[in-house]
Amino acid sequence: MTDFTATRAMFDLPEGVIYLDGNSLGPLPRAVPARVEQTIRAEWGEMLITGWNKAGWMDLPARVGDRVGKLIGAPAGSVVMGDTLSIKVYQALASALELRSGRRVILSDSGNFPSDLYMADGLCRTLGPEYRLKTVAPEAVEDAIDETIAVLMITEVDYRTGRKHDMARLIARAHQMGALVVWDLAHSAGAIPVDVTGADTDFAVGCSYKYLNSGPGGPAFIYVAPRLAESVRPALSGWLGHEAPFAFDLDYRPGAGIDRMRVGTPSILQLAALDAALDVWDGVDMADLRARSLELQEIFITRVAAECPDLALASPREGTQRGSQVSFRHPHGYAIIQALIAEGVIGDFRAPDILRFGFTPLYLSQQDVEQAADKLCAILRENRWDRPEFHQRAKVT
Ligand SMILES: Cc1ncc(COP(=O)(O)O)c(C=O)c1O
Repeated sequence: MTDFTATRAMFDLPEGVIYLDGNSLGPLPRAVPARVEQTIRAEWGEMLITGWNKAGWMDLPARVGDRVGKLIGAPAGSVVMGDTLSIKVYQALASALELRSGRRVILSDSGNFPSDLYMADGLCRTLGPEYRLKTVAPEAVEDAIDETIAVLMITEVDYRTGRKHDMARLIARAHQMGALVVWDLAHSAGAIPVDVTGADTDFAVGCSYKYLNSGPGGPAFIYVAPRLAESVRPALSGWLGHEAPFAFDLDYRPGAGIDRMRVGTPSILQLAALDAALDVWDGVDMADLRARSLELQEIFITRVAAECPDLALASPREGTQRGSQVSFRHPHGYAIIQALIAEGVIGDFRAPDILRFGFTPLYLSQQDVEQAADKLCAILRENRWDRPEFHQRAKVT
């Protein structure tokens, strides 16, 4: 049984704050500052450029990738860290399209994160007018997978509503129709059980700054199924994905397996932060995490429904249909979230009217969740959100 009191003690949360935004930016694990300090002083400071060899910096993207791989059911040597998620989406899509060279359509859904859609659209424009991105409603995805589709690009958990796709089913259907799958795990990795091997996916990508707590701008990850890894041709053919970067050959030859999905110089300080942050997961059972997350979400939904019926649930009511977040709609959602933050409960807002709350059992207790629901409802009951400062939109919502 996972000891969530022990995991909570591994985070450094500000006093008096209830943090329901780990689905956007995970909080600081206590082990991270010392590890980053050590990387800066003992490695960068003392070893200077020899740190690439002596401190093992060059191997960090693969070593940390293996640790992330354990959380998503990927075997060692099939995940590598680097770049941002948008870049990894592009990279996976470009490789998948090339593997299905007779087909020209990328299929996605309107619940996908816009950056994924933008990257797909940009890639299609680069490849030529015969390539296109087809976007359907989330409920229509399964029926839209036919023999014209080259790649199915799906984010499992909708960033706005928390609605969760049945990935195993979609992947099976895509394969039946001869399509490949790019699975975006941004709101899944560290949030819900994921098994890229069991679901037989082709490519999976995700970020580390949400549920994996690597800090702002932490590196993304990419998984390529071992059965494809030696035949994938990277479109972003940077020197560190080359078979022999330090041979400085003029011609590109892809490196072995997942190494070819590396692009350029890795961000060592962020990788060190992530490596330390991943220690939190050592004693965590993902089935326990999922069960506890659903319990906490249920407490929140029930309490909000009873105390402030003005908030319309935007997430599926059935827990198994959600990821690890709960969202509500309200025309004044932005101001309500600002008022809530001012009172020490941090959630976030997504246009046009979504109030979003992430549930992370690693550091959230039942008492936190009850208090957060009570505060939210008191703010609504007493119109405490309706102050000029809460209506002023900041750059990041
Ligand atoms: C589902 C999903 N895909 C892609 C992205 C873009 O990630 P990045 O800014 O790291 O490129 C995000 C960011 O939140 C996301 O939630």
